[in-house]
Amino acid sequence: MSLPVNTSPQNKHSAIDIVLDTAYQGINEGTWKELFTTARQSGLEQFIQDMFAGKHINNSEDRPALHSALRNLTKTPVLINGVDVMPAVAGVWHRIEALCDKWVGVTDVIHIGIGGSDFGPRLAIEALAHVSGIKSRGMRMHFLANIDTAELALILARAQAHSTKVIIASKSFTTLETTMNAKAIVAWLKESGCTKSQISDSLYAVSANIPAAKEFGVAEDNIFPFWDWVGGRYSVWSAVGLPIALQYGFETFKQFLAGAEAMDLHFKNAPLEDNLPVIMALSLLYQQDKHDIKAYAAIPYADALDWFPKWLQQLDMESNGKSVDRNGKPVKHSSPVVFGSAGSNAQHSYFQLLHQGTEIIPIDFIAVREPMSDRPEAVAHHRILLSNCLAQAQALANGKDDSNPNNVYPGKRPSNLLLLPKLNAFYLGALLALYENRTASLGALWNINSFDQPGVEYGKVLAKPIEKALASHQNDIASSTDIDAVTATRINLLNS
Ligand code: F6P
Repeated sequence: MSLPVNTSPQNKHSAIDIVLDTAYQGINEGTWKELFTTARQSGLEQFIQDMFAGKHINNSEDRPALHSALRNLTKTPVLINGVDVMPAVAGVWHRIEALCDKWVGVTDVIHIGIGGSDFGPRLAIEALAHVSGIKSRGMRMHFLANIDTAELALILARAQAHSTKVIIASKSFTTLETTMNAKAIVAWLKESGCTKSQISDSLYAVSANIPAAKEFGVAEDNIFPFWDWVGGRYSVWSAVGLPIALQYGFETFKQFLAGAEAMDLHFKNAPLEDNLPVIMALSLLYQQDKHDIKAYAAIPYADALDWFPKWLQQLDMESNGKSVDRNGKPVKHSSPVVFGSAGSNAQHSYFQLLHQGTEIIPIDFIAVREPMSDRPEAVAHHRILLSNCLAQAQALANGKDDSNPNNVYPGKRPSNLLLLPKLNAFYLGALLALYENRTASLGALWNINSFDQPGVEYGKVLAKPIEKALASHQNDIASSTDIDAVTATRINLLNS
């Protein structure tokens, strides 16, 4: 009933003091060899080099995916059409640093953005708040993403308008949630008695669409650019990460970039057999082939990383949740459903299914060696946290027999253990880059373009005529080319 556990040292890999233990994947040495051969045959090594070299690996949009340039602190030239992008990237770093020194007396920052313009900075602000001894400016950092005014109302009840700064983060600057929320915030500043010039001073934007940000009313000096070669879900390393620098200081932001850069160098230079993102990608590939798995869980045994699975959901599912490959041919496998939340809380939620459900769901257990606070209880609590993490992985792998079928643990449920030495800006950056590179590796192995997201557009288009029909307040809407019979009935229900 237990996995053929392979405790050989070949199951332990490390990069920049992050350890990956794959012993509970149940993959023997021969199979690992085959997996690396498959990876080589699929051109993964060339793909990695192409990605860092700025080749147009985003084939549908005919552009590079060069988020790695945003954390290239060594400023090694990165060429796009023969032009080095690093001076422009470094120019933004200088402006971020200058802004950190400039802001005084700010009580609240409202960061408006959704999806990739929200998850990364929100996760980092939350995670780093738990780093003991971290220097924080202590501003109230509010994240406004949802078009639902519940979030807006909560923020406005807490923020002090006259000492609030607003950052509108949107790559496209056309995302309806973001532009409508930004308008609502500007209206609130006006209602609160802020003058035109005070509003102009407090409004900042981060975007690849500078004309649209200006058109919205953001002063040119307050606009931080990023570029179309940075995917939205890979953008926390750009000025989208401004909240991190503003709250914790530019040095901390640089540490965050440095951790990601270190992981990039590992990904780019390590042989596949020692390459953490590649090994993680291959372990999923193996389980998918073997068990046709439909779901995957990432469980950080660190409360600070509670937002991590949400960030990962967009990264993995928006990148690789696709049915056709780069050539439009159907694929056998692509991204499974990704879910997770902080352990040990997760144990008291869906672990029943992980242990005894009918589906096999591979898991990444993410643990941190050092306790996450300097409370007197920290060491004892942390020991219990880690023992829970290890125990769950062991129970899932080995299972347990019982004469009563209800009490049988089937076992053979694979997992990875990823162990960070500590949680700080450097290792947070490294962790996110590790998963970004794992996602890109999986895309390469499945021959999927991980850098576009055509599937999220159609629903946005359909929302427009529906919104119009709702605004009409009529309850006799008939079906049409844009609105089918079911939706027409629902509109009429809402309008009655
Ligand atoms: O949901 C689709 C999407 O385009 C994501 O890829 C992106 O992260 C999010 O919307 C926000 O887009 P933008 O930064 O352009 O506002």
